[in-house]
Amino acid sequence: MGAHPNDLHALQTSGALPPDELDAYWMPYTANRAFKRRPRLLVGAEGMHYTAADGRRILDGTAGLWCCNAGHGRAPIVAAIQRQAATLDFTAPFQFGHPKAFQLASRIAALAPGDLDRVFFVNSGSEAVDTALKIALAFHAIEGRGTRQRLVGRERGYHGVGFGGMAVGGIGANRKLFGPGLAGVDHLPTTYSREHQAFTRGEPAWGAHLADDLERLVLLHDASTIAAVIVEPMGGSTGVLPPPKGYLERLRLICDRHGILLIFDEVISGFGRLGYAFAAERYGVVPDMITFAKGVTSGTVPMGGVLVRGPIHDAFMAAGEKAGERAVELFHGHTYSGHPLACAAGLATLDLYRDEGLFERARALEPTFAEAMHMLRGLPHVVDIRTLGLTAAVELAPRPGAPGGRGYEAVEAAFFEHDAVLRQAGDTVVLTPALIVSEDEIAMLATSVRASLSAVP
Ligand SMILES: Cc1ncc(COP(=O)(O)O)c(C=O)c1O
Repeated sequence: MGAHPNDLHALQTSGALPPDELDAYWMPYTANRAFKRRPRLLVGAEGMHYTAADGRRILDGTAGLWCCNAGHGRAPIVAAIQRQAATLDFTAPFQFGHPKAFQLASRIAALAPGDLDRVFFVNSGSEAVDTALKIALAFHAIEGRGTRQRLVGRERGYHGVGFGGMAVGGIGANRKLFGPGLAGVDHLPTTYSREHQAFTRGEPAWGAHLADDLERLVLLHDASTIAAVIVEPMGGSTGVLPPPKGYLERLRLICDRHGILLIFDEVISGFGRLGYAFAAERYGVVPDMITFAKGVTSGTVPMGGVLVRGPIHDAFMAAGEKAGERAVELFHGHTYSGHPLACAAGLATLDLYRDEGLFERARALEPTFAEAMHMLRGLPHVVDIRTLGLTAAVELAPRPGAPGGRGYEAVEAAFFEHDAVLRQAGDTVVLTPALIVSEDEIAMLATSVRASLSAVP
């Protein structure tokens, strides 16, 4: 092809993009105008690499978007999807089923800790979150605790873009234009403090006490009005915020004390990112529900879901009994819940994770990855580096009056000049490579970050 992706005309004439085709697509969570002036177009992917529209091989430091944990284009997953499409493309998930949905649910339940052994399938992380919140509200209602309607999230939390997830999320920009959303939502304080935690490897020692803020909310609202607390075990979208040591354990204790359900949003921390099937296992804390998505199919087919503790599921079945066997127990679901292609992809993905020991691999690589990332300390503008599992954040001081500018330029330079895909979260550069990343590739990613940051004024 030979076109430089900076040169839109060349890209269009190369056949990678016909003229005018940039206009119609309104891109999600993207600076559309800047992108369309200088598109970052990817046309192929294999293993740890993308192929750009101009033919360059680009190292993927982000596993797509925290999702392609087994790497790109893995043959067994591709083959499973192809076979499934040719065999059974679709069945209605309401009142009908297909075997792979049941098989995948059993496999996921077997990976989850404690009695988290029931799985409700959806198609994204956002749907998983809104589903979990609705199950929490409905559970209390059928158990005769209908006053428990308040939901508690956390500042700097990200739980997707549905009205529920937006409301419990703690990111101002995601909330400010969309009205009040859910009533009766409150937030715990963020667990991050640069003053107390800067340049920590893994879980910071400071901050477990921040869980006690839930006691303040209980005093303020009364436990009888609070249905559930939802947190990401590791904050992701606002720039990798590892949980302080002991924080999640403390949150669990306080929830138990007051009959409040605890939901872990593991959309990014699930499926090996932190070296375990779920962060719940890493921390030895069993929540009442886990939301998952992304890594369950290694990003190949959209899928999400909610893992629910057995007794919560059973309460719905018991309530259904009263209305007769043919009564629907939960009035909720999606046309594509448990889609056959997603289930086939999920089963093949879980096989790969198991057969290649990828969760254990991530655990073993964690110190090497952390070392490579923390070596970036001292580069211009770097004010903090955080690492956990195969996840790292390199935070830059914002340019006065132009927050996000340095982050944008660093990621842009990495793509165009240093052949690496990195992710921007404001002025933080985030790395989340696939679990198949090699030590050499970790070193290459560190080199790309170093070169990209050095170019940012
Ligand atoms: C913790 C968390 N929850 C929910 C979501 C939303 O997932 P989706 O974009 O698939 O709707 C994300 C997405 O990154 C996430 O990180």
